[in-house]
Amino acid sequence: MKTIDELLSEGVAGKRVFVRADLNVPLDGTTITDDGRIRAVLPTVKALAEAGARVIVASHLGRPKGAPDPVFSLAPAAARLGELLGTDVAFAEDTVGTAAESVVTGLADGQVAVIENLRFNAGETSKDDAERAAFADQLAGLADVYVGDGFGAVHRKHASVFDLPKKLPHYAGYLIATEVGVLKKLTDDVQRPYVVALGGAKVSDKLAVIDQLLGKADRLLIGGGMAYTFLKAKGYEVGISLLQEDQIPVVKEYIERAERSGVELVLPVDVLVATEFPDLKTKAPAHPATVAADAIPADQEGLDIGPETRKLYASKLADAATVFWNGPMGVFEHPDYAEGTKAVAQALVESPGFSVVGGGDSAAAVRTLGFDETAFGHISTGGGASLEYLEGKTLPGLAALED
Ligand code: 3PG
Repeated sequence: MKTIDELLSEGVAGKRVFVRADLNVPLDGTTITDDGRIRAVLPTVKALAEAGARVIVASHLGRPKGAPDPVFSLAPAAARLGELLGTDVAFAEDTVGTAAESVVTGLADGQVAVIENLRFNAGETSKDDAERAAFADQLAGLADVYVGDGFGAVHRKHASVFDLPKKLPHYAGYLIATEVGVLKKLTDDVQRPYVVALGGAKVSDKLAVIDQLLGKADRLLIGGGMAYTFLKAKGYEVGISLLQEDQIPVVKEYIERAERSGVELVLPVDVLVATEFPDLKTKAPAHPATVAADAIPADQEGLDIGPETRKLYASKLADAATVFWNGPMGVFEHPDYAEGTKAVAQALVESPGFSVVGGGDSAAAVRTLGFDETAFGHISTGGGASLEYLEGKTLPGLAALED
């Protein structure tokens, strides 16, 4: 994989450089609630601009249906990028149309532009190779060089991620280089004990990674909505908690495999329950009760790990040499159910080992719960991408940069 440093040493002054970033930031209307992904691409954009490149930043945002939809406009992200760079950033209101052409033509050396959401074009996410290639051809017409730096999207076989780099000289940006370097530490030469904390709503999203980790990790701590499928698989009643009934057989097999292979699979011993899901808008007090994990009442729903589990998980993380954490332990968006997620984040902060927060909701939780980001070994910008890397899958966006 050629890196951006090689590109810089070859010289980029006056060249149009297409930077595929992941500016898929959470929005409340047009307000960005977490700009972590924009900050993560700054080193690449700055280095290119300072070297005199004409930088075209492109990304997806949300999941529009292949046509323009103002709700998913990248305009707020472009404005924030300009603020963070401390310079004007031009914004093109289309992706490969006349607006993009004129914005790119108007760029002077060292200037930066953002083009509109790539997913406003059906060709970006198409399953049809020819349709994707045709859109990639249009994108290639905007630039001389491609820099891949949208780590959060490298697991997507999309036109700007997979097809476009084949059409232009291509390089990996600083973010991708950092993310891949960190993930290699979790796969190739892991320092032990290696402890993984997995949470989030759906166990089905995590099956492949659990499958891999059962052969790699020393300890696996389970929390979040997915924990209830594990508890049910152990024979406990889980009331009206989130449950993926159809996944129980595979989860049972994982529990047995963990026992056979000496992997410590740790489940909640107590949980916070209530009769209804909390109001995340008003954040009105939810008054949860604490119950043992094998005594969840039939009319109640588990919404966070309980105090004993918090202590247990902190102790299981304390001696880790390497930690990977993906997925909140509870409904952390509500203060009454944030303690489990906080406890795991705090244990990572205190861990003397190398700690990696695996993107997505856990990265957002770390920031919204007020943790100092520098206290973690690494906070990934890619939730799905980092999980698929750990699953051992070939990621299209990385493969395309290798060729
Ligand atoms: C993410 O949020 O994980 C990335 O931006 C990829 O987004 P996607 O899941 O919509 O492809």
